[in-house]
Amino acid sequence: MKDFHIVTAANKGGTGKTAMAMCIASVIEKVKKREVLLVDLDPQENLTGLCSKGKDVQSGVFELLNNEECDTIELTDKIELLPATHRLKGEKGTIEQMDDTELSFALSEVDKNIVVDTNPNATQLEKMAISFADVILIVAEPDKASIQGCLNLAARIDLKNKKNRKMKQKPIRWGFIINRYVENRKIGNQLTEEIKSAYKKVPIFIVHESEALKASRNENVFIGDLKGSNKDRLMSELTDIVKWIFSGKVK
Ligand SMILES: Nc1ncnc2c1ncn2[C@@H]1O[C@H](COP(=O)(O)OP(=O)(O)O)[C@@H](O)[C@H]1O
Ligand SMILES: [Mg+2]
Repeated sequence: MKDFHIVTAANKGGTGKTAMAMCIASVIEKVKKREVLLVDLDPQENLTGLCSKGKDVQSGVFELLNNEECDTIELTDKIELLPATHRLKGEKGTIEQMDDTELSFALSEVDKNIVVDTNPNATQLEKMAISFADVILIVAEPDKASIQGCLNLAARIDLKNKKNRKMKQKPIRWGFIINRYVENRKIGNQLTEEIKSAYKKVPIFIVHESEALKASRNENVFIGDLKGSNKDRLMSELTDIVKWIFSGKVK
């Protein structure tokens, strides 16, 4: 079975990229019974902080990109983390000089599903992630600034896909997650409509605000271990996303 390269991205902080990366990895493990490498490509090192439980992280994705020794951290039976170290932020100049294809090249020997968590800025790291992705999940929150950032990112993916088509390369599949959705909040519905009219053929997945997910923050709890009343709804919303990733079909 094919392994997928999945990227969570948004042009804004705090929309849920890291949470969705962890959740998607977890659902791939629980539902698809497949292995996942989670990659922290955000210089803020949030995913690494959440998952490493205070362990001293000596090496990770920056080191791999520089052909140095690198370690992964085992998180669950089937999920490993390629962490971020402080050098991802500290040695920005090195990253800026890298080619867009450098991440694909560095991870080319990994034969499992890979989920990459990115930073909220249009930097060289984002370009490398876009170039690496089979599937991109744009994580938006139902507020104006978030959606605008996401539409800007969508435009960059569109541009990359035009190039891919010209070069006879496979286009990247992508979709929106409207995250932390709250029923009856007008703004959410308005903005979902705005996205729908701008991108008619792109799938839009709704992930509701989840008490279970909120409560789990900082405890490195993966979705299968979540507790709380709306855990089942969250699980079913995320399972639909994973099914789309693997099949290309929306339920
Ligand atoms: N669907 C959700 N329901 C409840 N809380 C969420 C949800 N998605 C994300 N969060 C919380 O929102 C905060 C920001 O999420 P995070 O994933 O760190 O954002 P980003 O990586 O985009 O900066 C975290 O505390 C996270 O637990
Ligand atoms: Mg993050």
